[in-house]
Amino acid sequence: MARIAHLSDIHFGANDPKIVDAATAWLDERRPDLIIISGDFTQRARIAQFKAAAAWLNQLRAAGHKLLVVPGNHDIPLYDVVRRFAAPLDRYKRYISNDLCPFYEDEEVAILGLNTARSLTIKDGRINHDQMDRVRACFGPVPPEKTRILVTHHPLFAMPIGTGGELSEAVGQHDDAVVAMCEAGVHLALAGHFHRTYAESARKMVERAGGALVIQAGTATSTRLRNDEPQSFNWLHVRRNNEIEVQVIVWDGAGFQRASHVDYRHDGEVWEARDMAEGPVVGSMAKRVTR
Ligand SMILES: [Fe+2]
Ligand SMILES: [Fe+2]
Repeated sequence: MARIAHLSDIHFGANDPKIVDAATAWLDERRPDLIIISGDFTQRARIAQFKAAAAWLNQLRAAGHKLLVVPGNHDIPLYDVVRRFAAPLDRYKRYISNDLCPFYEDEEVAILGLNTARSLTIKDGRINHDQMDRVRACFGPVPPEKTRILVTHHPLFAMPIGTGGELSEAVGQHDDAVVAMCEAGVHLALAGHFHRTYAESARKMVERAGGALVIQAGTATSTRLRNDEPQSFNWLHVRRNNEIEVQVIVWDGAGFQRASHVDYRHDGEVWEARDMAEGPVVGSMAKRVTR
């Protein structure tokens, strides 16, 4: 079983240091096999914010954690127009990671991260055709029994973002990206960006999507919350490529506690939530903290 902590939207410059410390302590205690961080390390891509993010990542690495990271739209300078267009991810590459397409593989999982942050759009992400080729090329040789996981900052799918069921824009070139994901046999699609937790079978969201389970992480440490959903991250236990447990770990004002806990099984067509008492939509559970 692979134990993966999926954090997102750390937002140094607009985060709470005591929540960062609590997340670090939780990770140090649980010792995940891998920590995935799906972008928005900073609030405004300022050097001091990147330095703070880099110091935190170095602290995690020094404690022996393995990390896989991708940038978010907040990691591109917004107001520094020259830098935004001439060298949008220079600071990210210098302070966070030089690798914009990280790939990790062990005996159980194969994980590919892609950069969806672009200079031309302020919030919306995009996937290009080179990246889609990379999805196929990286996952192509992976043995079928391994769980294939794709990580992006922007979700590939239109996501519920409000309380009234309104949907976000899907990532740019979404149709082609979904086809590439399908052809590559991706089992789990992890993302962040909306500061809301959510999980659903891709096929229930887009008819011709493949067999992926879409899993969104909330913001782990930002003070900017959506719909008052508290800070959280996801704790994934990947048992097999058709069996995964999703736990939402939520900040309750004093520490991180387990909230919702849902088992997903892939029945050959779609992912079904087996623990229906807690429902398939993890986000709605994030406020209910169980001790
Ligand atoms: Fe964010
Ligand atoms: Fe974002």
